[in-house]
Amino acid sequence: MSTIVLGVYFVWFWLLFGKLKGPKTWPLVGSIPEMLLNIGRIHEWTTDQLLASPTLGTYQTCGICIPFINNWRRSFTTVTCHPKTLEHILRTKFHNYPKGPTWQDTFADVLGNQGISYVTGEEWNLLRKIVVPVLAKSRLHPALDRWVNPTIKNDLLPILDKASKHNISVDLQKLMTCFGTDNIFGIALGKKLKTLLNPDDPVAVAMDTIFKYAFRRFFYPDFLWKFMRFFSIGSEGSLKKSLHILNNVITEAQEECSNINKDETCDYLLRAFTRKVQVNGHILPSSAITGTIRDILLAGRDSVSTSASWFLWLIMNDPRVDRKIVREIIMILRKTRGKDMNGSKVTNFIEKPCDQETQDQWTEEPLSYEEINSLVYLHATLLESLRLYPAVPRIVRYAICDDILPDGTYVPAGSDIMLSLYSVGRMKSVWGEDCLEFKPERWLSADETRIDMPEDGYKYAAFNGGSRMCIAKYLTYLEMKSAASAILLRYKLSPVPGHQVSQQLSFTLSMKDFKVNLKPRDLSEFGIRR
Ligand code: HEM
Repeated sequence: MSTIVLGVYFVWFWLLFGKLKGPKTWPLVGSIPEMLLNIGRIHEWTTDQLLASPTLGTYQTCGICIPFINNWRRSFTTVTCHPKTLEHILRTKFHNYPKGPTWQDTFADVLGNQGISYVTGEEWNLLRKIVVPVLAKSRLHPALDRWVNPTIKNDLLPILDKASKHNISVDLQKLMTCFGTDNIFGIALGKKLKTLLNPDDPVAVAMDTIFKYAFRRFFYPDFLWKFMRFFSIGSEGSLKKSLHILNNVITEAQEECSNINKDETCDYLLRAFTRKVQVNGHILPSSAITGTIRDILLAGRDSVSTSASWFLWLIMNDPRVDRKIVREIIMILRKTRGKDMNGSKVTNFIEKPCDQETQDQWTEEPLSYEEINSLVYLHATLLESLRLYPAVPRIVRYAICDDILPDGTYVPAGSDIMLSLYSVGRMKSVWGEDCLEFKPERWLSADETRIDMPEDGYKYAAFNGGSRMCIAKYLTYLEMKSAASAILLRYKLSPVPGHQVSQQLSFTLSMKDFKVNLKPRDLSEFGIRR
């Protein structure tokens, strides 16, 4: 009898999964063993599989597949990175590919089941109508002046100054996480957290815990983490406490916000959202605003620190790009901050060294909003680093109905589809033979005076595409360019001997740590010729 059952199982397994072109799949456990063997380089491994796929950009595989225990469709996953397929899923067939029940079930308590990244349908539409305009490019000037630049000047630079004076190495990934946290709490809640100066702040520790333990749920069977959550034990107990701390901060801010005079100017997101809860006659419950603020606090922290770390790491390892960036910043500062060493206003750049007084003028304050927006080469470098190291390396969607992808791949209803944003930038078929090279120039017009975005917008999907595109693309650009210009203008970064960066398994593509040495930058060597 058992032989017959096994025989039927193997035939069933072979018919459904035997012809899949992805990684090797085994009866019962699917491709999980291969995935576990490559867990330390999971995004590289996914890219290798995609490169080897016959359609150059899509493969299919399965996880645990045992009839009567789990539905085969739930264990079936399509993995893709082809721009045409991304567009199909994120835009053309957007309504067929929501985030899906597993994702929602796993993160409902973490994200708050009424926030923008959780909800769907009309409620989500209304939230986007409130949130997106508040974070539009044209409205970010106050965020830079009130939060980002003061954090750089008063908190980040003194730490880096001290390290460079005393030859102490710093972990830039950690500092950038504190930088991201301080900025996002200011921008979203109007609160000065100052975790750069006090990394053990309970709120900062709670944020760390939330990231670490929410991610762990992917590796525990559902019943186990749900059992642990019910009895508040182990990682789930800590997660619950940390969510409580975060919620208290948001609730306090909400109370303070409701006591502010309605006519007072508002320069933080919670206040701006609260003023707009009514859209087209619909009123949103305050829990939707609270949930959205929680999404923003969580999304706005690690994404920025992760991207800033890879960005600085790439520049540190490429002296040519490093020099071009500093040269561009100096060209802008010569225009905007007045006099050169002869005391005359610079209208034409000539090759000459600059004196200490001029250097001090350039480095007294972080760059202004207008100065940052003039940095074309720095922006190209940022796009290039996000192409190679997108902070959100993969996103997962769920197919409601059967579908056929543009390359002919059949996607069964009820299965998952994973979009590898990390792999898009590593496809020769998409970015050319030099796709693995760090080359900011690929984003510039021939005369290098402006950014030339690719015609196919889905070639660059670091911020997602279609209707659920990241709400904070411009805020991220501003924060990162401001931090990078401040750091690179003042210091030359070099790797700590023997230290190798590596990716950490997490929601984001964060580094385990990023240790660097800093030397004060000698700007006198930067002559500008025109
Ligand atoms: C380099 C930095 C960032 C990257 C690469 C990034 C990337 C992304 C991606 C790929 C998504 C889509 C996720 C999905 O649908 O599964 C997303 C959504 C989102 N992002 Fe970002 N993000 C960044 C920074 C930020 C920041 C700073 C904030 C907050 C201020 C933020 C807030 C959000 C929110 C709330 C959503 C959900 C939007 C929705 O579902 O309608 N992100 N982001």
